[in-house]
Amino acid sequence: MNRETLVEIKNLSVDFSTAKGALHVLRDVSLSIPRNRVVGLVGESGSGKSTLALALLGLLPDNTGEVSGRIELDGENLLDVPPEELRRLRGGRIAMIFQDPMTSLNPVFSIGTQLVDAQRNRHPQLGRRELLKRADEMLKRVGISNPEARLAAYPHQLSGGMRQRVMIAMALLCEPDILIADEPTTALDVTIEAQIVRLLDDLRADFSGSIVLVSHSLGLISELCDEVAVMYAGKVVESAPTKILFGNPRHPYTLALLACEIDPEDEPGEALVTIKGGLPDLIDVPKGCIFAARCPSRFGKCVEEPPLCEVEAGHKSACWLA
Ligand SMILES: Nc1ncnc2c1ncn2[C@@H]1O[C@H](COP(=O)(O)OP(=O)(O)OP(=O)(O)O)[C@@H](O)[C@H]1O
Ligand SMILES: [Mg+2]
Repeated sequence: MNRETLVEIKNLSVDFSTAKGALHVLRDVSLSIPRNRVVGLVGESGSGKSTLALALLGLLPDNTGEVSGRIELDGENLLDVPPEELRRLRGGRIAMIFQDPMTSLNPVFSIGTQLVDAQRNRHPQLGRRELLKRADEMLKRVGISNPEARLAAYPHQLSGGMRQRVMIAMALLCEPDILIADEPTTALDVTIEAQIVRLLDDLRADFSGSIVLVSHSLGLISELCDEVAVMYAGKVVESAPTKILFGNPRHPYTLALLACEIDPEDEPGEALVTIKGGLPDLIDVPKGCIFAARCPSRFGKCVEEPPLCEVEAGHKSACWLA
């Protein structure tokens, strides 16, 4: 299958300014996001997944310090795009689904008004009535019954699962080239989570854009993603097509993550803490392999930093053993 790149992240590094000094949250991250594919970002808490997602959206926090590298969307570096144009991109080519829909839905406007406003960038020629009709159809498509009543409702009048469906509808109404979903099911209870996963899986089929799915859960990633990037302490340590990554993991950190999630009874995310030790200091970043301190396979060479190298077609690992 032809693998055309939509977004190419090249050597992206991001620092956050803190009272204790510069926190090197992303370091030399390179990753390509193919057209019409779902790419998963996985890694334990604090590994920089959300920061990478926010960088893609041009929504890095105010205390962002030095940023270097490139994020190319069809060849254009998003890091050079003026804020105004970025805002336009966010309502059009790039859309986002957050973990907690309450933080992204405005409590004082009806669902209908918000779904209409979300489309204005993309369809400036359409009037309110037409946009409402599109919203109505999209709510049906994401599994919301009685959409007319929902359009008149306010966010607090909907359940959590329904709000997340509304967020997904809002994102899809923008017809984005790239949809970024950061832990889209973590705030939901297990039954609703399963429904939303099924919905995302159904939508994949007729959604023409690419999806970046951020999740703690390897189960969710394996179900929904075509490709996976495993992040650890601000670096991509392994990336591969999903089947290859799960079938033939080539980084000890990926192996450790997999070992932690073998028990299906475990709460997603919770199991990850069973890898011994914690994330390294991101202010005074240790030299050599970033995972060495916690790695059961560490050896002499690991005092040098292993580059992210191709170990087989499409499969990269940053480990000397690979
Ligand atoms: N605005 C900020 N200022 C300073 N440090 C920050 C800021 N935002 C995030 N961090 C830190 O940056 C690191 C990466 O955070 P990030 O939210 O990207 O991780 P994550 O992989 O998304 O984690 P989680 O799985 O918990 O969502 C963490 O150490 C976090 O504490
Ligand atoms: Mg996060």
